[in-house]
Amino acid sequence: MSAEAIFCRPLRETDFPGVMTVQAERYDGRMLEPEATLVARWIASPDTAWVALDESGICAYLFGYRSILGRITPLRGLFEPAPQANTFYLHDLAVSRRAHGIGIGTRLVRLGWELARREGVPHSSLVSLESARTFWHRLGYRIHALTDPEQHDRLRGYEENDAQAFHMALDLDA
Ligand SMILES: CC(C)(COP(=O)(O)OP(=O)(O)OC[C@H]1O[C@@H](n2cnc3c(N)ncnc32)[C@H](O)[C@@H]1OP(=O)(O)O)[C@@H](O)C(=O)NCCC(=O)NCCS
Repeated sequence: MSAEAIFCRPLRETDFPGVMTVQAERYDGRMLEPEATLVARWIASPDTAWVALDESGICAYLFGYRSILGRITPLRGLFEPAPQANTFYLHDLAVSRRAHGIGIGTRLVRLGWELARREGVPHSSLVSLESARTFWHRLGYRIHALTDPEQHDRLRGYEENDAQAFHMALDLDA
């Protein structure tokens, strides 16, 4: 699959079956989040979700929202967009195996950054699973220490066995 044959656009209501298929393909059981949760997040922040499509349909998605640096969405928790946001929080990015490694994940992330920069939001942040840490590091994200114990507990909720999760952040105006 060539990257030129794939296009990105804002997520629509009819995209959820395709999104759920990509999620099921890329995450193991414990990390799966129900469709109702994804729909509720999109309703809470409808202009911060995008999909990528190839000739077979949806091959990638990104859900983000405007938040406060240091806050973490609990696994299976809802988005609580902040009116005075200082970070564009990337909650979930997944790319189907048929389209991975050709820049689609990066392209979706850049859509989020563009929106945040237009609004003067200075940071982007996320929780990275161990398996994706190098990907985020290459995009410029660095470990960002959490001071609030409640947020720390939320972060721990993403960990499994020996696999750590990391809170990472990036300065968008740097
Ligand atoms: C992580 C993920 C979103 C990356 O998407 P992608 O479209 O394959 O990434 P890109 O093609 O934009 O990759 C950009 C660069 O990072 C590299 N890269 C991609 N995934 C990587 C990973 N997991 N670890 C290290 N490097 C990775 C690519 O090789 C590429 O390198 P290059 O610029 O030298 O060619 C995708 O592999 C995925 O869906 N993984 C499963 C779900 C997941 O873990 N999501 C993140 C949750 S925190």
